[in-house]
Amino acid sequence: MIIAPSVLTADLADLGNACSEAVEAGLDWLHLDVMDGNFVPNLTFGPPVIAKLRKALGDAPIFDAHLMIENAEESFQQYIDAGCNHISVHVEAVKHLHRCVTAIRAAGASAGVTLNPGTSIDAALEVLSEIDMVLVMSVNPGFGGQSFIPTVEAKIRRLKEAIDAQVAAGGRPVKIQVDGGVKAHNIAMLREWGVSNCVVGSGLFNDKASIADNLAVIHQALE
Ligand code: DX5
Ligand code: ZN
Repeated sequence: MIIAPSVLTADLADLGNACSEAVEAGLDWLHLDVMDGNFVPNLTFGPPVIAKLRKALGDAPIFDAHLMIENAEESFQQYIDAGCNHISVHVEAVKHLHRCVTAIRAAGASAGVTLNPGTSIDAALEVLSEIDMVLVMSVNPGFGGQSFIPTVEAKIRRLKEAIDAQVAAGGRPVKIQVDGGVKAHNIAMLREWGVSNCVVGSGLFNDKASIADNLAVIHQALE
């Protein structure tokens, strides 16, 4: 199970240190929540901040950009240029999904398709042979610290079946990433559903304990 820390609930005034702390705790993915105040009702950061983070953290961490933005097909290249290795776009915010994910891969990044809780898996299935990851939102995007929506189970299980069938036919393995409300108490259940990559925000970055201590509790839950 890959744990991708979401820095959204970290101290954003001290973003570089929050990311370094996560990397030092052994997490080599960083989930970067990019919001445009349009597709979602919140604003975070964009390519200039990500480029500075890349400079501060070096080449090693995998920068996983979750683009909660309109027209990602026009701007994804800026995120790759800033140092992102993986780009996930929202089905609901991209007009030409197939063109967008193939262009992301042609530009040298891995590509992900994101589904809001109210969005069916159909569009992701249409491009399943072209992508590296499906990001299933288990909260409505925009804010950290929300509660996990349990009805995503059926969606994840259907997706897992489709991916297993693709792999059995010699096709590409596709990761399932889940984002929103993932904590120590539900992460083992997600693994059982077929999830291989979990975004954890407030479960890691909170006032209760250090990232390393929170991560130890998550690892214990997965043992
Ligand atoms: C929501 C974001 C998340 C989320 C994760 O729009 O995509 O990555 O903030 O945070 P928690 O784990 O607190 O739900
Ligand atoms: Zn996210």
